[in-house]
Amino acid sequence: MTGIRRETGRTASDAAPQAVPTATAKPLLDVLRGPRVRLRPLEEGDLPLTRAWRNRDDVRCWFRTTAPISEEQHRDWWRGYRGRPDDLVLVIEARGLDGSGAVRALGMLSIYAINQVAGTAEFGRLLLGERDASGRGLAIEATRLLLDWAWTDLGLRRVTLEVRADNRRAIALYERLGFSVDSEGDGWLAMSLDAATR
Ligand SMILES: CC(C)(COP(=O)(O)OP(=O)(O)OC[C@H]1O[C@@H](n2cnc3c(N)ncnc32)[C@H](O)[C@@H]1OP(=O)(O)O)[C@@H](O)C(=O)NCCC(=O)NCCS
Repeated sequence: MTGIRRETGRTASDAAPQAVPTATAKPLLDVLRGPRVRLRPLEEGDLPLTRAWRNRDDVRCWFRTTAPISEEQHRDWWRGYRGRPDDLVLVIEARGLDGSGAVRALGMLSIYAINQVAGTAEFGRLLLGERDASGRGLAIEATRLLLDWAWTDLGLRRVTLEVRADNRRAIALYERLGFSVDSEGDGWLAMSLDAATR
């Protein structure tokens, strides 16, 4: 669990029982802290910002749904998301990128289809929405932080993801973390990472 520090004593491992697929609440998580970034759960107040990030032309082109998302669609998604215990979206924050020392939200990422009995989940919705956040290794740190928590606190054994086959930047990031390609089709790659071989 290298580099992870939780801000409060409330952790996923405090909540028992965790290992049931019929969980009615999302896994408990306040903040995950790494050397440069911190991750915290998405809140309703983040919706305008996350929609703006997601609707950037150079961001939405990499997702399954490439059309811009309306405010209403985003709200509908949020209502559904809040009720899904197996779906967790986290906001990536860092301090001091602009020299002010202030904490800023820079992007997001998520883990979903969490099945603690099978030990599996999917990783996705990764994006850096703030332009000055790119190319600094912040996305890889954030992804590593989330995966470390998934292995350690959720007890997952395998995480899968899908990425467009021409998304070289994202694929490079996933390969640096140890993901490998399982299959390719329709312009998409299926990748996975096992806890045992990470
Ligand atoms: C995918 C995405 C999050 C990757 O962002 P990124 O800035 O390339 O990723 P990182 O923050 O990990 O930075 C990696 C880069 O920073 C460099 N870097 C600088 N300092 C670094 C450090 N301390 N540690 C690691 N990398 C560092 C790396 O060399 C790398 O640059 P390179 O690609 O030129 O070699 C971003 O491109 C994005 O938001 N894309 C649009 C949405 C998207 O495609 N999402 C993925 C859907 S599957």
